[in-house]
Amino acid sequence: MNMFSSLEFKENLDRFLSSPLLGNRRDFLSNGCPYTRPCRPQDLQAELFTKALTEQELDRNSYLAAQRMLNVIYEKDLVLLPTGKQKKLDINAYQSFYSSDHYRSGEVIREDLERHCFDFLNHEIQISGKWDIESFTAYCQQELDDIAQSESSLLKNLTASADPESATRFFLIQCAGDFLSEASAMGRNVLGNFGSHTSELFKVFIDEYGYGVHEKKHSTIFEHMMTDAELDNRLHTYWQFYTASSLSLINYFHYISKNHQYFFRYLGALYFTEASLAFTTKSQSKLVKQVFGGRVKTKYFDEHTHIDVHHGRMALEKIIMPVVKEYGEGILPEILRGFQEFAHLQELADEDLYRHIRTHDTLAELQEMASRYQAQEGAEVAEFVESEGELSVTHCHDVNEHFSVVSGEIDLVFSPHKRVKLKAGQAIVIPKGILHGSCVVSKQCTYRVTEYRGELCAS
Ligand SMILES: [Fe+2]
Ligand SMILES: [Fe+2]
Ligand SMILES: [Fe+2]
Repeated sequence: MNMFSSLEFKENLDRFLSSPLLGNRRDFLSNGCPYTRPCRPQDLQAELFTKALTEQELDRNSYLAAQRMLNVIYEKDLVLLPTGKQKKLDINAYQSFYSSDHYRSGEVIREDLERHCFDFLNHEIQISGKWDIESFTAYCQQELDDIAQSESSLLKNLTASADPESATRFFLIQCAGDFLSEASAMGRNVLGNFGSHTSELFKVFIDEYGYGVHEKKHSTIFEHMMTDAELDNRLHTYWQFYTASSLSLINYFHYISKNHQYFFRYLGALYFTEASLAFTTKSQSKLVKQVFGGRVKTKYFDEHTHIDVHHGRMALEKIIMPVVKEYGEGILPEILRGFQEFAHLQELADEDLYRHIRTHDTLAELQEMASRYQAQEGAEVAEFVESEGELSVTHCHDVNEHFSVVSGEIDLVFSPHKRVKLKAGQAIVIPKGILHGSCVVSKQCTYRVTEYRGELCAS
């Protein structure tokens, strides 16, 4: 960013953040309101976003903060109204979310946030050489065969968890931001006119929307699954518990669909996601059955195992192949880029999910480690005093953190189902990049944080 653009970014970021919807909250769960998107002001200093992150830096808190803001910015293009049993509309929140002022400032900061979050893909994914439709198809088929034949890491990691039910719920929460608004980003690509291909793409889109039958709409099927799993099925109830890597999957589709210069990438990403879901949903269904028995119906996943075989084929044979035939092989590198970028983001998100679950499983060990730890002399220690009910919106740290309570009591919250209460004299290590928040549960609580420089075996 040059000086002018960084000033413009800062001014508009401040304007964007002044919305009451982004202010602190007294609860970790949003109460059926799709507009409230709490964040901590200290996580949103303009300087944090001036450069593009590398892949090794994706566990930074600025990545999470930027992905959260991008999601707010993109979703202003969607019509979101409260759903579920209590459809109470907070008219002030609704007006703030869709206000033109907020929209405008979001649009100014969007590009820099996109660079911060997605530029690393240009370095990680290198596409060279000349591609024709045969080599493209053969490459993609090989990638998809590998997925089809490999053992499911999801099934392996989640059933190996010390608490498979909580781990699976955490997984469903990670899916919720995407599945409860399923195919919304894609809606941006069915507008306009690109000949008969528009209609082919529209067929996939209306499938996702259940051909106008609400009960068959994929998001509705997922709502039922959330309810079965004893989770709240309203959009963004678990906003604070989406990891940055989960948000990246939703936002990537918005990113390449909002910027139509990336339309061909979108086609590649669509092909990857549809064709790979036909396999991955099989193991997702198996996981849910194994963990919850018959208590949670797996229709959402089973339906995709079936229909995404068609969607994958439609994306390749009815859209990509004819589009390439018509507009030339020069667009193939972009289509391939979309295919590979989304595959890569998906891999990163899987790893990040397992790392979170391993951390949730080892909270007792992390307390053990913390209690044995002696900080080096001269290490910087920050002390905080907070009063009852004070809540620290979920975030993560750029380094492993040693967190110790001097007086009072505080709840550390790692997921809606994983909390640790720490009393005076107790401590914990919070691994870097791991999502957590806190809430004071005594009249007052004093706690200290310092960097943990010891060994970490949990994650
Ligand atoms: Fe779907
Ligand atoms: Fe699909
Ligand atoms: Fe923290």
